[in-house]
Amino acid sequence: MNVIEVNKLTKDYGHGRGIFDVTFEVHKGETLGFLGPNGAGKSTTMRHLMGFSKPLSGTANIGGLDCTAKHHEILRNVGYLPGEVALPDGLTGREFISMMKNMRSTKGDDRTDELLKLFELDPDGDVKRMSIGEKRKLAVVTAFMSDPDILLLDEPS
Ligand SMILES: Nc1ncnc2c1ncn2[C@@H]1O[C@H](COP(=O)(O)OP(=O)(O)OP(=O)(O)O)[C@@H](O)[C@H]1O
Ligand SMILES: [Mg+2]
Repeated sequence: MNVIEVNKLTKDYGHGRGIFDVTFEVHKGETLGFLGPNGAGKSTTMRHLMGFSKPLSGTANIGGLDCTAKHHEILRNVGYLPGEVALPDGLTGREFISMMKNMRSTKGDDRTDELLKLFELDPDGDVKRMSIGEKRKLAVVTAFMSDPDILLLDEPS
């Protein structure tokens, strides 16, 4: 069974930049490494899978749902680690976590406390004052906390 289906996905940013006719599938239980040089279009493809960006042509589906049309369901059900973490002003890590939790459905156990402990991350500080590494850890915690069946990890290392 294909969990992720990308078919001829195209987003043309002009001057030859963007993604062109990208096609691949990810099956249930499979871990796919999505590799390519800088600017190849990995993050752009993932943003389309999350429904943050609308394709010029082609389709992206997760669990049979069109990623653009069903953006909100995708957001609820898919764990996403963005390549660049942009955090909102004026929130503590804990407030950011609960904001993200309100957007997600928790299928299995809530793993937040376990993950915070594992990463030795203090969530009570202002997110804007966190170091880059702490921001990455916070993003990893929010991607994994709801124990999602599907994870999209941009720059996971
Ligand atoms: N919003 C945008 N507007 C215009 N061009 C864009 C935009 N987003 C990405 N691009 C261009 O699209 C191409 C693909 O970028 P993308 O960030 O998806 O690459 P990547 O494979 O994730 O690269 P990296 O390995 O550096 O993370 C690049 O040429 C980039 O400059
Ligand atoms: Mg990228």
